[in-house]
Amino acid sequence: MQVGSFALEDLTPKMVSVLLEAVPVKSILAKNDQKSRIQEGLPLEVKPLAGSVPESVWVEEGAVRYQVDLGGGQKTGAFLDQRENRIRMEGFWGDVALDVFGYHGVFALHLAKSFSKVVVVDSSAEALARARENALANGVSNLEAREANAFELLRQEQKKGAKYNLVVLDPPAFAKSKQDLERAYAAYKEVNLRALKLLPRGGILATASCSHHLTEPLFYEMLKDAAADAHQTVRVTEKRGQGWDHPVLLNVPETQYLKFALLEVC
Ligand SMILES: C[S@@+](CC[C@H](N)C(=O)[O-])C[C@H]1O[C@@H](n2cnc3c(N)ncnc32)[C@H](O)[C@@H]1O
Repeated sequence: MQVGSFALEDLTPKMVSVLLEAVPVKSILAKNDQKSRIQEGLPLEVKPLAGSVPESVWVEEGAVRYQVDLGGGQKTGAFLDQRENRIRMEGFWGDVALDVFGYHGVFALHLAKSFSKVVVVDSSAEALARARENALANGVSNLEAREANAFELLRQEQKKGAKYNLVVLDPPAFAKSKQDLERAYAAYKEVNLRALKLLPRGGILATASCSHHLTEPLFYEMLKDAAADAHQTVRVTEKRGQGWDHPVLLNVPETQYLKFALLEVC
């Protein structure tokens, strides 16, 4: 569980008892270490709320399985809002795929079965160590994990003339506040433009933004700008979003935060 607002903090024991009653869970961990809690005047803490919480759990997702570090991982240990989008990757095949901002390499694991080689890039050595372990656990030997700054790596790959049949971009929220939006728009455009340059005709860009400040219309505007500057003709083959268990409340627009587009270079 993660509680992000002062108003809900005192209701935590109540929510725990409702959860224990409604869902057959064995234990509940409070993963209250997100920085936004500081603005609410709440302490940063990771502590068990019920039962005996294991350090890690295995998650089965489509054709792959991966380990989640409950206390130490980013977010709740896994980015479950991308689950359906990751499973969607099983519908593509080709020679080489690149998973940028790959964390534990789960997009790459889904791709590894139908691509000759997949490269996962992340700036976190710890996340990549887990990606390698996940590859072993899935019997995947064609996954290469590269520690790098995504912006630099994409630039270098372009310079080398490297080509990939499919690129996944799943960056962290570049726009954490409204004030960040202009700078964030430029950063999103930069990575998308660079990724498009690595794709030959027929290549697929699977691209996401989890920042609700970058609204869906702005996200597609940014992709249009990126495609124009990359001198690529690009068509949108699918518009997707967050998983079905991350529902959107119509009157709380920030609950519609994840955009995920499948683009094809024509
Ligand atoms: C939204 S998460 C990716 C989640 C992952 N794709 C998944 O489905 O589980 C963003 C990732 O980007 C990484 N990251 C942040 N800034 C980066 C940068 N400049 N270069 C490379 N990776 C970066 C973080 O370590 C984090 O693992």
